Parts: sequence; structure tokens; C-alpha cells
Amino acid sequence: MRAIVLGAAAGGGLPQWNCGCLNCGLARAGEIPGASQSSLAVSADGVDWAILNASPDIRNQLAATPALRPRALRDSPVKAVLLTNGDIDHVAGLLGLREKQGLSLHATAEILDVLAGNPVFAALDPALVTRRAQTLDRPFALLPGLTAELFAVPGKVPLYLEGATVATDLEGEQTVGVRLESDAGVAYYVPGCAAVTPALAERLRGAGLVFFDGTLWEDDEMIRAGLGAKTGRRMGHISMNGPEGSIAAFDRLGVRRKVFVHMNNSNPVWRAGPERAAAEAAGWEIARDGMEVTP
Ligand code: MLT
Ligand code: MN
Ligand code: ZN
Repeated sequence: MRAIVLGAAAGGGLPQWNCGCLNCGLARAGEIPGASQSSLAVSADGVDWAILNASPDIRNQLAATPALRPRALRDSPVKAVLLTNGDIDHVAGLLGLREKQGLSLHATAEILDVLAGNPVFAALDPALVTRRAQTLDRPFALLPGLTAELFAVPGKVPLYLEGATVATDLEGEQTVGVRLESDAGVAYYVPGCAAVTPALAERLRGAGLVFFDGTLWEDDEMIRAGLGAKTGRRMGHISMNGPEGSIAAFDRLGVRRKVFVHMNNSNPVWRAGPERAAAEAAGWEIARDGMEVTP
């Protein structure tokens, strides 16, 4: 199995167009690498590939990744797209795949309903792009030699569907993690997750490779930096640090390789410093665009 991080950043990317925070400034100045929005490419054989989450940056991500370039006049190694939620940073890139290329689009029925409710996604010709509703906890063939299984993780509905009150720890079809299995091993991809519940911890225990939600370092970091009014909790994202954070939650799970993905541009782990050092000391890697990982 091969996994390539196409985009390591959360929605907005690094730098974000309207953000003057420390990290965004460092990225604009070329002092830290920039990062595009959340997406992972996976393959069992290196020939056929699936894109897990279609980010608004997909055009550049595909162009930058040799394994994903056409091999014939009209062609793409991308045979499947899988969505873990309906957030804009994970679905807007579908519109960048509208040029009459056959592929299958996998998500829960609830997420496919969100797409069906928005006519702009009909730009993906239904004769060529087959939408496949996947049942939670039921494995399916994503690609030749690569099985996927969706499982519920705590989360919320997409921002654009939020009502007056918002439950941020729903467990159902709106936010899922993915278990991937090939002859070469098992990997998990969980780019959005509000909490590591006991059930999720047991699921991930002893895994060889986990890509996990690294949106924020601290729950209130955006508020403290003057960037916004929301906590990570309100956005449906667990933070890395603290007694309730992901670093602590994974501490005794025995996961061999732990990679943070979907980092918000406010997260201090983008730059060298005590936070990044603490994450690395706890055995975590901070994803970068183009990083390839094999389980
Ligand atoms: C999130 O991960 O919380 C969302 O992508 C936020 C957004 O839609 O911008
Ligand atoms: Mn996001
Ligand atoms: Zn910023």
C-alpha cells in the first residue's frame, strides 16, 4: 500500500488567503513550507489510486504528484474518490474532477444526500461518476487489492448546514474514519474527529499506521491568537495538547506510526518550537504535502 499526503492543511490551507497570523506570514515568506488543503491519495498497486477527500486544491495536488498524472490522451490513475464528511475543504474539489472522467464516488448515504441536494455537483456526469453509498462498518472494494471500511467518529454536520444549535459530538454518517486494508497492511485515516472515545481507542489500538485530525494544538488557540471566536470543540475537532487531547489519548494505544493531518494554519506545530517538539517526542509525525507513507 502507498499513501501520499496531497494536502496536509485544514480548510483555508497555509497560508490562508486572508490570514496574517505568524504561520501564514512565515509560509508567505518561504520560511516554513506552505501546505494545501486536506487530502490523501492511496493505492495498493501504485497503478490505480483513490483520493480520500477532494480538496479545493485538487488541481495543483494532482499536477504535483507524478503517480497521479495521465498516462494516455484522456486518462487518470484516479479511479475512486472517498469522502469522510461534507465539509467544503473535502468536497469542493469534486468540481475540479468534472472533465468527463469515469470514477466512483464513495461516501455514506447522508453525505451523498448533501451532494444530491446541491445541483452544482451534477457537473460530475452521473453516467461517468458513479455514486456509491457505503454502509458504516461494512468493508467494500475501493480499488483492486484495496478494501475500505467507514466507521463513525464523533463530529458534526458541515458548517454550511449548521442550524441554530449544533451538536458537535454526533456519531453517525456525517463524519467517518476510514480503515484501509491491502496485502501490505492496514492503515486508518481520520482527518476530522471531535473526541477519542473508548470505542475509537480500542479500534485503533495496535494499528500500524494512523493519519489523524491535527487541526489545533490547543482548543482555544484561534481565540487567543485573535483569529476567530470558535474553539476546536465547537468546530468538531479534538486538539493535540492537554489531558483530553489526541496526544494523550493515543499515549498507550501502541500505534506504530502516527501522522497528524488536517492542521489548521494557526497550529504552532507548523513551525519549529516546543509544541512541535512535544508532538514529535510523543511519537507523532506532522504531515507535509507530498509526504509518502507506507504502512
Ligand atoms: C472543518 O474542518 O472544521 C471545516 O472544514 C471548516 C470549514 O468548512 O471551513
Ligand atoms: Mn476541514
Ligand atoms: Zn494564518
